[in-house]
Amino acid sequence: TASVKIAPSILAADFAAFGAEIEAVEAQGADWIHVDVMDGHFVPNITFGPDTCRAIRPHVRTVMDVHLMIAPVDPYIEAFAKAGADILTAHVEAGPHIHRTLQAIRAAGCRPGVALNPGTPVEAVRPVLDLVDLVCVMTVNPGFGGQSFLPDTLSKVRQLRAWAGSGLHIEIDGGVAPATARACVEAGADVLVAGSAVFKGGSVSDPAPYGENIRAI
Ligand code: DX5
Ligand code: ZN
Repeated sequence: TASVKIAPSILAADFAAFGAEIEAVEAQGADWIHVDVMDGHFVPNITFGPDTCRAIRPHVRTVMDVHLMIAPVDPYIEAFAKAGADILTAHVEAGPHIHRTLQAIRAAGCRPGVALNPGTPVEAVRPVLDLVDLVCVMTVNPGFGGQSFLPDTLSKVRQLRAWAGSGLHIEIDGGVAPATARACVEAGADVLVAGSAVFKGGSVSDPAPYGENIRAI
């Protein structure tokens, strides 16, 4: 699938070796690096924040695609922008003022993205499509890697592509694997996030499986 980008999620990487893992997976063909920020409030898990993003920034040669699973978002936009996020994605469910949040993300110098959970209708993001460079369609309930893909969410991808045309990045996030990737691309997605499917079977000292896993998607 030529023009489709693979964005490995470091949620599935070795948390004690993010820099080396990022360099390894980029050397093995990763197009973007997907960085899952979780606050233990918007989602039932905690990962890391702006300081970790700043620490890993020098190791990212491609694109640092930061997925904010936090609420509220606005107080932290500046910190993630200064940390070097290229894309900064906020959840439409994270608060009542997504339109203002997305304006603030672009004003801070990042490319804005909006994410929507499996239970959120695709219409919820229609009013802000002209403010974003990316829509992240969650194909699992956010908070954890290694979950099963929810295929009913793909109708949102088709609808988004019909509304937005080819200029918008439509990113699939959750449960992407060789068995599910084709349906995602056929529905119109052009960026596939994959955590467990990419990092399984490899390590910093043995990264070859990362490349095999990426090519298999
Ligand atoms: C889940 C995260 C996803 C997750 C993907 O809340 O947003 O990016 O890390 O991991 P896999 O590919 O293992 O489902
Ligand atoms: Zn994510």
